[in-house]
Amino acid sequence: MDELFKDRILELRRALHQHNHNYYVLTAPTISDQEFDALMHELQDLEQMCPTLFDPNSPTQRVGSDLQVGFERVAHVRPMLSLGNTYNREEVAEFYNRVRDGLMGQKFQICCELKFDGLSISLHYKDGQLVRAVTRGDGVVGDDVTAAVRTIRSIPLILNTEDGAQTWPEEFEIRGEILMPWASFERLNAEREAREEDLFANPRNAASGTLKSKDTRVVAERGLDAYLYYIPDGLPQAGHYERLQEARKWGFKVSADMRLADTIDEVYEFIDYWHEHRSELPVATDGIVLKVNTIAQQQSLGMTAKSPRWAIAYKYPAEKACTRLRCVTFQVGRTGAITPVANMDPVQLSGTMVQRATLHNADFVRSLDLHTGDMVYVEKGGEIIPKITGVNLEARNAETGAPVEMPAVCPECGAPLVRYEGEAAYYCTGGSQCPPQVKGRIEHFISRKAMNIDSLGPETVDDLWKQGLIKDIADIYSLDIQYLNGADGKREKSARRLMAGIEASKEVPFERVLFALGIRFVGEVAAKTLARKFVTIDALAAAPLADLLDVNGIGAVIAESIQSWFADERNLTLVERLRTAGLQLQISAEQQAAASNKLEGKSIVISGVFAHHSRDEYKTLIERHGGKNVGSISAKTSFVLAGESMGPAKREKAEKLGVALVSEDEFLKMIE
Ligand code: IVH
Repeated sequence: MDELFKDRILELRRALHQHNHNYYVLTAPTISDQEFDALMHELQDLEQMCPTLFDPNSPTQRVGSDLQVGFERVAHVRPMLSLGNTYNREEVAEFYNRVRDGLMGQKFQICCELKFDGLSISLHYKDGQLVRAVTRGDGVVGDDVTAAVRTIRSIPLILNTEDGAQTWPEEFEIRGEILMPWASFERLNAEREAREEDLFANPRNAASGTLKSKDTRVVAERGLDAYLYYIPDGLPQAGHYERLQEARKWGFKVSADMRLADTIDEVYEFIDYWHEHRSELPVATDGIVLKVNTIAQQQSLGMTAKSPRWAIAYKYPAEKACTRLRCVTFQVGRTGAITPVANMDPVQLSGTMVQRATLHNADFVRSLDLHTGDMVYVEKGGEIIPKITGVNLEARNAETGAPVEMPAVCPECGAPLVRYEGEAAYYCTGGSQCPPQVKGRIEHFISRKAMNIDSLGPETVDDLWKQGLIKDIADIYSLDIQYLNGADGKREKSARRLMAGIEASKEVPFERVLFALGIRFVGEVAAKTLARKFVTIDALAAAPLADLLDVNGIGAVIAESIQSWFADERNLTLVERLRTAGLQLQISAEQQAAASNKLEGKSIVISGVFAHHSRDEYKTLIERHGGKNVGSISAKTSFVLAGESMGPAKREKAEKLGVALVSEDEFLKMIE
């Protein structure tokens, strides 16, 4: 079978790599999205039928997988140095003069490039295939993020040949920057805002948070991009610029906005041009990089301990503006936290109009000694969200208003505010009477890790809330398909999907229901431990403080929060309504029968492929028997549950640290 389809599989892979390149690097697709999807589906089907032809660099691998990846630490072949920084033009001239003097009268050119603001990456290719991707880390050792990087569509997994002729070295390293384009960043933050999750401050943080995600499907979805800008070794071209032009032919995304400068005035022209135009670029930049172009000259200039003498980064200054603070409003988040927000006269800053800025919390407001009507300085540096950095005290006059104070009651529901010890934020005590909090609880309840009712997104919740159809989580279970259909019955399909999702949630195991209730401080892990220990919600509700404190991992803060949650009559009514709806409020008989403490206190790494159960099933088994799943091997690991074809690097690490390898059969015996 595999032989039969081999040619077609190889042909599809080649074609899909090319279409990927056309779309993501050249931004000039030659086929429609539908045609692309059809080819991809054909390849997926064939690969499924022919497992021996598996290839980690197949275009099908770009979608990622939900198998959790741990990151292996690997030493860089060549250390990844950083560049000297400068913020002013005089220092650029000093750099230029140092280079001129160092080269003792030789002619030289400076390659001027954009300084991309993401995270640097080192890619290794062997025989034209991507074999490894490593983050900068501390410059000497970084994280192996190959699986995540394979999902970035603009990074070639297989290099182009020119009419069948290979022009790339057999083995080489290329470095560049992984970025989240503005468009992806804005989409991601808008989604997070709708779910009232913390926003990423800038595309750099978003890109690095994404790449570090253990679930490569998340990376695949987030639309990362990559520009390559440095090949340390192994190419015949005499110049850095020429090397990059060559790399572009192999399929790499190399910026077109590079220029060779013969004089310092040309360097300044480049700096000035991009100061004005960088806001039009699709990705974030924070300056420009200047590099002596000729490799031999780079070598003769050499390095200092920290950075090359042949290159420098010029950073653009953070843009600042001064404007009037009109008033401060107070936002209530889904946890009830109150955030003061500055509303200002609109002002132009780094290409966008700014009129609102977060003031974080009461301490921040106090540290600024902020009065309404103050003239405030607003800054937009690497952070996309503007910051108020100070007040122009000299501009205060008779018209300046009173100092900004936190309100005494919640602006949404009028309940008093409290400040918990050790926390900067004030919280509303309105609980189930406070609309943003109730909506937040519903959104948490339906979220993926809780009840996973994905047919009911935040927008539908908002809609149903506005119509008065849901006021708390239990109302979800009395929704009627009649209403959901819409008056004209046009939404039948989505209404049915929603009802099916709600129905399916009745099978969600108790530990996730417990997490879904949103009891303060009871996260996923605590919910699992508590469910296993108390078995039913009634036992948990009735547990004395001492019993709660007796549970591994449950401290005074969690225990008290649980007690006060169950002490509230309204919550008890809610539990009764959920019970009537048919939710799992105790561990199933099956789960009870299987559970033990045989793996208590053990940290276990799963690696390789298994014959009897899937990896996810082994994860559940480990937890059910009191053990803890961990992503990567360390000295603290109790043992590795090792399946077939466990990676050699992991095996070596386990051996080095003296961590035992336990086979699938041995493991099953262990928990028998
Ligand atoms: S060259 C030895 N070129 O800036 C030279 N770096 O502060 C290696 N960066 O760590 C770096 N754009 O992450 C180079 N066009 C560019 C760059 C660039 C952004 C980053 C890179 C590096 C940091 C240096």
